[in-house]
Amino acid sequence: MNKQLRKAVIAGNWKMNNNRAQTRELLEALIPSVKDAACDVVVCVPFTDLETAVAMTKGTNIKVGAQNCHFEAKGAFTGEIAPGMLTEMGVEYVVLGHSERRQYFGETDVTVNKRVKAAIGAGLTAILCVGELLEQREQGITAELVAMQTKIALNGVEKADLDKIIIAYEPVWAIGTGKTATADQANEVCALIRGVIAELYGQDAADAMTIQYGGSMNAGNAAELVSKPDVDGGLIGGASLKAPDFTVIVNAASQD
Ligand code: 13P
Repeated sequence: MNKQLRKAVIAGNWKMNNNRAQTRELLEALIPSVKDAACDVVVCVPFTDLETAVAMTKGTNIKVGAQNCHFEAKGAFTGEIAPGMLTEMGVEYVVLGHSERRQYFGETDVTVNKRVKAAIGAGLTAILCVGELLEQREQGITAELVAMQTKIALNGVEKADLDKIIIAYEPVWAIGTGKTATADQANEVCALIRGVIAELYGQDAADAMTIQYGGSMNAGNAAELVSKPDVDGGLIGGASLKAPDFTVIVNAASQD
């Protein structure tokens, strides 16, 4: 269903892993192994590794992302990083609304919305994460919850700016647990999110929107997941820390 209208994106979310030496080592392995990818390849690294990653990937097909940014341009926000500080360094992507931010750091749909608008306003591409908890899935409210998260996160975002947004469907129960959603479950919710985009912005916008799956995606299950019509790549945690595994996932998304 219109999959050819959009490019698959495979993004690694390194989370709070890899010091500078490990960043160098991983990128040295990845740069040659993903150079022929037919999908977009992004590595979202800790703030302290951004400079190394940007320098090392210059002239390659690997793009660099951060894992969060603040919604103000500057000011008294101890510990926060402004979107403009990232673009100034050559960072092009930022993960926003990850469930670990929501769960451990008090992110809400409203603050995610502010961060999305600030990030795209500064020229970043936002990888906006949505997804339900296990008890919400069991209660049968996945569709409503994910639709609500998506709508609030995009509140006030213009249609013309949607090319600066990727949505990652990450069921919280599948993150870091080894419990992947089945390919059909992943596709069902990605399709549902696409329906929300169609409702908000029209079918053309929905057809063009990259919607990834994330949650225990690995070298063994990636091919089936990304072959689904509404799954446009993945946001990968643990398996993005191993160059051979991440390469297999990139290759799987390149076939599609
Ligand atoms: P895992 O691939 O380790 O389950 O993490 C998924 C994730 O949270 C990516 O953002």
